[in-house]
Amino acid sequence: MKVGILSGGGDAPGINAVIRAVVRKGIKQYSDDLLGIKDGWNGLLENAYMPLDFNAVSGILPRGGSILGTTRTNPFKREKGAEKIMKNVREAGLDAVVVIGGDDTLSVAHKMAEYGLKCVGVPKTIDNDLAGTDYTFGFNTAVTIATDALDKLHTTAETHHRVMILEVMGRYTGWIAVEAGLAGGADMILIPEKPFDMDEVCEFIKRRQARGRTFSLIVVAEGAKPKGGVEIVYSESLDEFGHIRLGGVGYYLGKEIEKYMQTETRVVTLGHLQRGGSPTPFDRILATRFGIAAIDHVHQKKFGHMVAIKGNKMASVPLKDVVGKRKTVDLELYDIASVFFG
Ligand code: F6P
Repeated sequence: MKVGILSGGGDAPGINAVIRAVVRKGIKQYSDDLLGIKDGWNGLLENAYMPLDFNAVSGILPRGGSILGTTRTNPFKREKGAEKIMKNVREAGLDAVVVIGGDDTLSVAHKMAEYGLKCVGVPKTIDNDLAGTDYTFGFNTAVTIATDALDKLHTTAETHHRVMILEVMGRYTGWIAVEAGLAGGADMILIPEKPFDMDEVCEFIKRRQARGRTFSLIVVAEGAKPKGGVEIVYSESLDEFGHIRLGGVGYYLGKEIEKYMQTETRVVTLGHLQRGGSPTPFDRILATRFGIAAIDHVHQKKFGHMVAIKGNKMASVPLKDVVGKRKTVDLELYDIASVFFG
């Protein structure tokens, strides 16, 4: 078969491990011809391809980013985008496409089925908020980086008797904030699922001060918002999937704390450091398992499905049960983390 591979949306450490696994098993077991599609769905609109053979994927397992590039291109926002893609797919002779992406990229794969495109999805996002899978690859790496940042902030916060705020990614859900906060011993974790109250935040800090702890570590997800308020945005401009650019809730919090309390506060925004660099061993293995399952799906003709992990076993989920849904934070986990607040 001739199989295309694309990666769309924000990058996540492990994309290259997926590509490598698809190519290695596709050639070795199925004698497939693999074609890399550059920059997400844009590559299929523009006929931007690269051949993928053993040599092209050699040495990419530990590399972050994507050798194919990625964009947030939405073909349904382009004039006759879907029709153009089908014409290009026919001309390239592709029998199927492995689509590595989060909700936006996979929602395009789902819609393209109506036009006759045969896709298999691979779940990718550092936010870990995709429905249908226990984990997305990239998340573990982001949590590891955020935990490392918290460990470093801990010593300087303690030494200077400051409140230290770490803003992490997590547009709609607080998975990174909760897991990194739990692993890094955060004194408070603020997530989109639970709007925060400034009085309560200050109360936690005061409670710590009352027992002689003159510093506090707060982790906040970028999408967290004050009760009755709205998310803090960096820019009002929307991407092709209608998302606004978030950012700044850490500074908002810092200023509010300094306004209500006589406590020096500092803010660190981790930003894209969470998505860069080498994937953790967990993510390399997960991404490899996803890639192997994806090429098997292609040959089992399980089109319109996403590969997934459930209880450490590979699984298969129809895209219709994934797109437009969201896996929010496990509140039992949040309750465990909150035992250590204040
Ligand atoms: O989709 C994952 C994510 O990292 C979100 O957590 C974040 O809001 C967004 O992407 C930022 O994307 P970018 O700055 O690359 O557009």
